[in-house]
Amino acid sequence: MTAKDCIGCAWVVLAGALLPLTGQATPTEQQTLRAEGLALIADFAGTLKPALMQAMQQGGPVAAVSVCAERAPQIAAELEARSGWQITRLSLKPRNPQAAAIDGWERQSLLEFERRHAAGEPVSELVTSRFDEQEYRLMKAIGIQGPCLTCHGAKVAPQLAEALDSHYPDDQARGYELGQVRGAFSVVKRF
Ligand code: HEC
Repeated sequence: MTAKDCIGCAWVVLAGALLPLTGQATPTEQQTLRAEGLALIADFAGTLKPALMQAMQQGGPVAAVSVCAERAPQIAAELEARSGWQITRLSLKPRNPQAAAIDGWERQSLLEFERRHAAGEPVSELVTSRFDEQEYRLMKAIGIQGPCLTCHGAKVAPQLAEALDSHYPDDQARGYELGQVRGAFSVVKRF
C-alpha cells in the first residue's frame, strides 16, 4: 500500500468515526424528516385554526380564548401520540410563558425569523432546522392574520382584555400588526 492510499484509508476511518458524532444524515433522510415535520405543522395549524374560527363565530372571542388555551395543547397531544414527534407553539413575546417556554436554539431561530422577515422574506417561507445524533428539530414561523388581531392586536375589546388579564397576568402577546411574525411552531423528532 502506498503512502497516498494510507492517507486515503485514514480519511475513510476518520470519517466513519466522526459521522455518528456529527450526526450527518443523508440528504434523503433529512428531506424525509423535513417533509414529515412540515406535514405535522400543517396538520396542527389546519386543525387549530378552523376550531378557533368556529368558536369565535359561535361564542365570540371571550369564549374562544379557551380554544387557544385548551384545544391547542389537546390537538398537539393527539398529533404527538400519533406521530412520535413533539410539537409546540412558541413566541418571543408569549401569552402563556410556561407553555411557550423557549430554549437557546429556539430563541436564536425566532430572532433569525424576525431578521429575515425584516429583510423581505414572506412569513410562509421562514423555516429553519437542526440535526444531531439525538434529534431532528424544525421551526416554522407563524404570521399574524386578520382574525388574530382580535386577541393579539393593539386594540383588544375591554371585556376580552379583562378575560385575558385574569388568565394571563404576564401576557406579552398584544400590540401585533397584520403580517408580523407572531411566533413559530417547533417540532422535534428524537431518535
Ligand atoms: C380568541 C382569542 C385568540 C385568537 C383569535 C387568537 N389567539 Fe393566539 N392565543 C390566545 C390565547 C388565550 C393564547 C394562550 C394559550 C395558552 O394558554 O397556551 C394564545 C397563544 C398563542 C400562541 C402561543 C404562544 C404564546 O404566546 O403563548 C401563538 C403562536 C398564537 N396564539 C398565535 C395566534 C395566531 C397566529 C392567531 C390567528 C390565526 C391567533 N393566535 C388567534 C388567544 C387567541
